[in-house]
Amino acid sequence: MKQILTIILLTALVSQNAFSQKKIWNETEAEKTERLEWWTDARFGMFIHWGLYAQAARHEWVKKTERITNENYEKYFELFNPDLFNPTEWAKKAKAAGMKYAVITTKHHEGFCMFESKQTDYDIMSTPYGQDIIKKWVDAFRAEGLGIGFYYSLIDWHHPEYTIDRVHPQSARTQEEYDELNKGRDMSIYRDYLKKQVREILTNYGQIDILWMDYSFPGKFGKDHNDWGSEELVKMVRELQPGILLNDRADLKDYWGGWDFTTPEQFKVKSWPEENGIKIPWETCQTFSGSWGYYRDELTWKNNKQLLVLLIESVSKGGNLLLNVGPTARGTFDHRADKALSDMGEWMDANSRSIYGCTQAPEEFTVPDNTILTYNPETNRLYIHLLDYPLQNFLLEGYKDKIKYAQFLHDASEIKISQPHGYWIKQETNPNDVNLSLPVNKPNVEIPVIEVFLK
Ligand code: GLC
Repeated sequence: MKQILTIILLTALVSQNAFSQKKIWNETEAEKTERLEWWTDARFGMFIHWGLYAQAARHEWVKKTERITNENYEKYFELFNPDLFNPTEWAKKAKAAGMKYAVITTKHHEGFCMFESKQTDYDIMSTPYGQDIIKKWVDAFRAEGLGIGFYYSLIDWHHPEYTIDRVHPQSARTQEEYDELNKGRDMSIYRDYLKKQVREILTNYGQIDILWMDYSFPGKFGKDHNDWGSEELVKMVRELQPGILLNDRADLKDYWGGWDFTTPEQFKVKSWPEENGIKIPWETCQTFSGSWGYYRDELTWKNNKQLLVLLIESVSKGGNLLLNVGPTARGTFDHRADKALSDMGEWMDANSRSIYGCTQAPEEFTVPDNTILTYNPETNRLYIHLLDYPLQNFLLEGYKDKIKYAQFLHDASEIKISQPHGYWIKQETNPNDVNLSLPVNKPNVEIPVIEVFLK
């Protein structure tokens, strides 16, 4: 009886959830999975944070952290001229690193538009550079076969009608101060501006694969979906680009169709993120060092191994990695970013089979010490990433009836499967365990991968 009651209650809850959810559109769960498939297979993308702040070279939030006024920020607008910008070179570097898609800032919080906009003169066409960076970028990245994504900042620290809030460079403390500051500002005019701009970027550059809107901060002196008009906005986005993938920062978490994937930022998730007990698509965005925009004097650069672990670990939990480059104001990649990309590329050249099309391994596979597992459901192969290279006898607990063949991924050299044994010691061995006989010397690969062919 108790069981029946529980079932009825659960069914009621599930169906209530399905029916009560507000909807942006009528796509089914299966259709959504299909729409996202290229992206979940791709696993690895490049984020690009580029704007006027590259000239300050001390974080893309410099306008806020130093409380710079529009007037004092103007010099960056007047000088912006990335004469060395060569998007084909960028695209080739992304591709060589193993990245399959890229997302660029069309406008960041500073409000400056890297694209030609009919809504404002605060755009690339009015700088000394005077050419549509976004157009060139899209053409070059498309030509290299990369997926195309636009980041668009909902926040705007330049627009005169955008109301001052707690993250604004002119943020205040009390309600009275805010009332005073926002006298004469009309957020509905900005809302309309932002909608028109999103329409521009989704109309003028052909098919766009990803829209990355950033970000909502509900609560006191904050902004939420009502401020952006998110519901209407996303309806328009879905109409203009039905195939597009959307991140989750427009504050439409309760809407079906309001977002497609979640975006843990500079944060390693403990396990595959879930919503109402269901695993959801996710992508972690991360920097090479502590800033998104070019930061000349920032020194906390992650090393090659850390970056690879970030990628492998994301895939092992069913997610993607969007790794950021902050180009300089000349239009080039910093030498440290170049090095990081090419080192990752070297590893990916030989090991990307453990990344593309891969996901979390089935739970039945125990995880050996100091390793990360990924799994390709299509080929039924398991990948064991050796973070700390072990000695010859490498025990796989409980794998005996599951494993057909094993090899190193980078050179397809066989790794012999043997029975676990020990000399001069009696230890109980489980009949379901097997041993892999590894070479003593670590192969010349940052993180060696064992490719296991499963039965
Ligand atoms: C944050 C920051 C921003 C960066 C973004 C990337 O929202 O405001 O500077 O663009 O995260 O995820």
